[in-house]
Amino acid sequence: MRQFSRVGVVGCGLMGAGIAEVCARAGLDVLVAERDEAALAAGRERLTASLDRGLRSGKLTGAEHEATLGRLSFTASLADFADRELVIEAVAERPEAKTAVFKELDRVLGADAVIASNTSSIPITDLAAVTGRPHQVVGVHFFNPVPVQRLIEIIPTQLTTGSVTERVVAFAEDTLGKTAVRARDRAGFVVNALLVPYLVSAVRMLESGAASAEDIDNGMVLGCSHPMGPLRLLDLIGLDTAQSIAESMYEEFKEPLYAPPPLLRRMVAAGTLGRKSGRGFYTYDTAG
Ligand code: CAA
Repeated sequence: MRQFSRVGVVGCGLMGAGIAEVCARAGLDVLVAERDEAALAAGRERLTASLDRGLRSGKLTGAEHEATLGRLSFTASLADFADRELVIEAVAERPEAKTAVFKELDRVLGADAVIASNTSSIPITDLAAVTGRPHQVVGVHFFNPVPVQRLIEIIPTQLTTGSVTERVVAFAEDTLGKTAVRARDRAGFVVNALLVPYLVSAVRMLESGAASAEDIDNGMVLGCSHPMGPLRLLDLIGLDTAQSIAESMYEEFKEPLYAPPPLLRRMVAAGTLGRKSGRGFYTYDTAG
């Protein structure tokens, strides 16, 4: 089976930066795109900060740090993606943003290239449908923080060619060293279908005054040995992202348990988005 060696990542936010990092650390040639120079500079800084953290903690040697940086390049134009064999889209969790990227990638990429989306909840079939290569489109859903979490969900659609799915599974497992689970193309796939109702329930519990944020989180950390409580996890995911995921899932199933509660909506409207904005359910010294 042919392995991917030239990879593109579109979007260098929380997830895109993590995806680009793990690909470069695995030895791949990685080209990262953002919409403009300012977003590109912010993304590059996010990526470099994470690699510096790896160096400080001893996970990367100086030589590995340097080699990883050397495998990363950056552009503000998708036209530069013509030689990419696999492109992972990781832009904001909004259908119109993702379809615009898919259309442009389809125009620019070679006929054999595979397009993947890191969406958590937007139907992969809808993204595939805007391209002329639906059989080469697949979902690859990473988890945050990408360098730490060992899972990738792989989502073929009814149109994805079996050999494309197998190549992407091999990329996830053999190249990146993660574990792949396959999921059907239903909003939320496996993990978010279980996680999102839990997270929004925690917001409703806080909103109803049943318990404080600290007590809700301590309940799940100390009572159930979760690494972090649901409200702190929402701060890590980003409240805007969590709201978008919950909306897509509600849109798909019309199940009230997926609907984003008013408190989550108000916090997003207020710009308190969690760690990345310095304040969410908790406050943070530094954004990121
Ligand atoms: N990048 C790289 N490494 C990181 C990191 C980051 N952003 N954050 C933490 N780490 C590493 C640390 O270097 C450390 O590594 P070592 O043990 O080898 O030293 C390890 O992770 C633990 O970190 P810390 O000691 O700083 O902090 P912690 O023990 O509190 O762990 C955590 C932090 C890894 C985030 C942990 O709390 C955790 O796993 N939380 C749950 C995260 C989770 O559920 N993620 C899934 C979210 S859902 C999602 O992403 C999908 C979606 O669509 C919404």
